[in-house]
Parts: sequence; C-alpha cells; structure tokens
Amino acid sequence: MSRIQSVKARQIWDSRGRPTVEADIRLEGGAFGRAAAPAGASRGIHEAIDLRDGGTKFGGFGVDKAVANVNGPIAKAFVGKHADQEALDALLSELDGTPNFSRLGGNATVAVSLALSHALADAAEKPLWKYLANGKVRLPVPEIQIFGGGAHAGRRTDIQDFMVMVPGAENLRRAFEITGDVYRAAGALMADENRLSGTADEGGWWPNFDSNEDGLSTLTRAIEKAGYKPGQDVFISLDIASSEFYREGAYQLGLDGARLDTDAMIELVTGWCNRYPILSVEDPVAQDHIEAMAKITAAIGGKVQIVGDDFLVTDAARVKRAADAGACNCALIKVNQAGTVSRAHAALRAAKDAGWAVIVSARSGETEDVSIAHLSTGWDAGQFKVGSFARSERMAKWNALLRIEEEMGDDATFAGWGGLPALVRR
Ligand code: PGA
Ligand code: ZN
Repeated sequence: MSRIQSVKARQIWDSRGRPTVEADIRLEGGAFGRAAAPAGASRGIHEAIDLRDGGTKFGGFGVDKAVANVNGPIAKAFVGKHADQEALDALLSELDGTPNFSRLGGNATVAVSLALSHALADAAEKPLWKYLANGKVRLPVPEIQIFGGGAHAGRRTDIQDFMVMVPGAENLRRAFEITGDVYRAAGALMADENRLSGTADEGGWWPNFDSNEDGLSTLTRAIEKAGYKPGQDVFISLDIASSEFYREGAYQLGLDGARLDTDAMIELVTGWCNRYPILSVEDPVAQDHIEAMAKITAAIGGKVQIVGDDFLVTDAARVKRAADAGACNCALIKVNQAGTVSRAHAALRAAKDAGWAVIVSARSGETEDVSIAHLSTGWDAGQFKVGSFARSERMAKWNALLRIEEEMGDDATFAGWGGLPALVRR
C-alpha cells in the first residue's frame, strides 16, 4: 500500500455562494484524490461541527481555520502514513479529540477523508464506485425534489422537501425522464396559477402555497399533468425536517397557523399518508423524540418508509438505538454529518444490519463534487437524494450516475422497489 505524499486544502465556493473546504491528497506513486465539503442549512444538533470563522467576513461563513487545520495538523500527521481509509479516518478522530470534530471541523475532516477515498480508487485504477463495491451493486432509486421549502426557501412552507420517487421505472434513465416531466409540469402548473416565484436552495420550485397540504395536492396534480398516475407510476416523498419547527415543546406550523403536540403531529402526518400517494417520510418528529418516532413507525411503517436524518445524524450508535426501539425503517446517510467516510459507512452498515433501507444524501449547500454518487452506488445504498432536477451542483450528481450506469455495462441493475424497505414495496 502506498504512503501519503501530500495533503493540501484550499477555500472554494459552494452553491449558496458561501466558502467551503476542498482538499487534495497525493500518494507516493502519483495517485491523486480531490473532494469538497458540502454544508447543511437544517442541521441536526448531534452532527459533526461545520467549523466557521465567525466575525463579519463572508457573513461569518469563512473557512480559513478549517483550511489551516488541513494544511497544518492534518497534513503533518498524514504525510508518510500508509494510505489506509479506516486507519487515517481513525487518526482524524484521534487528532481532533472531540466526539463531533469540533476542533478540526467536520468540513475539514470530510474533505480530507473523501479525497483519500478518491486517491485510493485512483491508485487501484478504478472509478470510486467500483473501488468501494463489495460484490454486485445496484444503481440507486433517486428521490428528487419538486418543491423546496423550510430552511431552503425562507420557511415559506413548514415541510422542507416535496419530492418524487419512481421505484417502478424499468431503469435509472427512465426514472430521470419521468421525474424531469413532473418537474417541468409542476413549474408550468405554478405559472398557470400565477404562483411561480423562482426556485429554492436545492433547485425545487419556490412553494407558493396556502397550506402544507396545498403542497401535497399541487404535487399530486403535477404528477397527473405530466401524464402519470400518482401512487402507481410516481410516488411522493417528504422531508418534513420537523426539528426545524419544533419550538417550546410544540410543532409550530407557521403556514397552517397550527401549534401541535407530538400526538397531533403524528396524526397530521398519518392523515397526509392516508390521503396522498406518499411513499416516504423523513424526520416526521423532532430529533430526540425516539418514542414518538417509534410510535409513528408502528402506525404507518408497514406501508411508508420512515427516514431518520437529523434524528440519526449518520451515527451508527444512534441507528442501533433507534432500531432497538422500533423507530424508523430507513437511514439517511450524509458523510459530512459523520465527519469521515468510515464513520458514515459504519452508520450505513448498522442500518442494513437492522434490515432497514438506506438513502445516501447530499446537503442543501453543495459543489460540483460528485463523490456521493459513487458512494450511493458503491455502497449499494438503494436510494439517493440530491435535491431537485435543476442547478448544476445537483445535476452533476444525477449525471454522474448515468456515467456509472454506462461503466456497469451489461451488469447495470436499477435497485427499483428492492431499494425500499421490504414492507413498503408495491
Ligand atoms: P440540509 O437539509 O442539507 O440543509 O441540512 C437536507 C435535509 O434535511 O435532508
Ligand atoms: Zn432531512
């Protein structure tokens, strides 16, 4: 195994025009890897810390300290070491010394950790997905945003992501075609009704709705307008991101003027799932409400995928605890919530060991980096969530999957319904 020759970071810019960290790793022998850190806007309180400089420069979002941590202590510790993912990810944890990378910055460690994966794949002369694959792997089912709300659209709706899924498509290309049709139909519908007011952070239409439920009915109509059958061809997936509006002991839905206790929130989401073709619901209750998550999983987890994002923060121990409590049947995996590739992979394995489904996910702040397209496929996640069907930081990842499909050749298989939890398959 070759050794690390150099580690270097720089500041680049993300899709919100904010600074982020990009890292380069060169191995002795010449193999090279590069990756950039993404950034969330609706972050879980238990995720790895995104180290920002604060102050007035760049609105406080500067990453000079995180870049200096890569070029200083991380580079010093890495150079000359064997290029081993697990060992070097463990070294990052050791150098940091905190449980959430608050000293070095999760944005510094995730860029370095992913750059190392790329360098290792380059050394093996394989595309990253193939380097990561352990046996036969499938192309994931895309979860694609049509309307963006919550923290990504000035809190115009309380629900953060109104997405669609096409698990019954014959292949990935067809899933994209159908989604593109729905995305355009939704935009046209909004324009016809004089409700079109731009796009949100992840490229979905800005949700000009009278209520959260109006978003559900508008999306159902958009699926029909595009020529597809809601609940047969195309399904709805929601990221409610409810921790964002859980305040002072209640779910405060600003758009609906409602203040709900936990049981009422569960009832609301259950009602939506009964009235609309909803296949998946993410973070329906707040991040530490394990009993409530277990309750909603017991109520509707037999037909709806219940996803933990802020609730699980890509942490293997939290996944195990949730699985033991009967909370969730799917884990959202975001590498930067974990801070390293190895920690994210451990969370993914914990979810699979529990018999859950898995979604590899982007953040609302992204770059042209397409590492997660390779992770979603190479780790055989089964599902992949990147935001909408617009904006190049999103399309770069969808397009990367198409190239992976081509590289798979005759072996290419689309996870389809098999990417979802067994109970919810149609
Ligand atoms: P974030 O949101 O990247 O802004 O945290 C994405 C999500 O909640 O899935
Ligand atoms: Zn989420």
